Amino acid sequence: MKIFIDSANLTEIEEGLKRGFAQGITTNPSLLAKEPKSSFETHIGKIIELVNEYSPGIHLSVEVFSRDPQIILEQAQRFVEIFKYPQISIKVQVGWDELETIKKLSSKGISVNCTACMTISQAIMAARAGAKYVSLFWGRIRDGGTDNDFIAERETLKAKRALDESDFDPSFVMRSVRQIFDQDKIDSEIIAGSIRGIADIRDARLSGAHIVTVPPKFFPDMIKHFKTDQAVNQFFKDFEQWLS
Ligand code: E4P
Repeated sequence: MKIFIDSANLTEIEEGLKRGFAQGITTNPSLLAKEPKSSFETHIGKIIELVNEYSPGIHLSVEVFSRDPQIILEQAQRFVEIFKYPQISIKVQVGWDELETIKKLSSKGISVNCTACMTISQAIMAARAGAKYVSLFWGRIRDGGTDNDFIAERETLKAKRALDESDFDPSFVMRSVRQIFDQDKIDSEIIAGSIRGIADIRDARLSGAHIVTVPPKFFPDMIKHFKTDQAVNQFFKDFEQWLS
């Protein structure tokens, strides 16, 4: 299982990288927008400096910020050129027009992480278009089944038999995508994003995600357990008594 850091915050990234467990970083425009104002190039450049200091060669996903296919193409090529980071992957949102862009980028040898995938068909089409990674949004897939702002959309899709209740179960979606990738020998890797809790990390991997990208706020709790604390405290207490 590979764990990526889902953040654009330099402190969070450094805290994760220096502990050595992370094999990649994913950013997105919303994560960048939480950081102090700076230029995109400067901020990503600082992330790359941290990566080069602590874990050179790990994955880095950087997302485009346009819906215009031509601009996506230009941004992606520019990111590859200016950052000169060999393991960079360009995040391009899934979509009908975007598939052509994904194909163009992949055929130029640019690694694409197709992001914001919610359905099985999106993941398959993105991978077939050439995306090396497909990001399935675990939490948002689940939210899609209950979000009151989208009642009409859900009903329309169900009426058209485009999807059913199971398509809002992230575990079902993940298992299905992984099964299809394996049986059809599609070698794109699946990244589970949009993680809302530690149990999601475990469930995503057990459902077939190759990689889980995790918000750093979960890391300290992932390594803690009250019985670990109890055991370690007891060992030291017993040893101190023996010494005295
Ligand atoms: C990662 O690649 C995604 O951009 C991120 O996990 C999305 O998370 P969110 O649903 O919390 O915005």
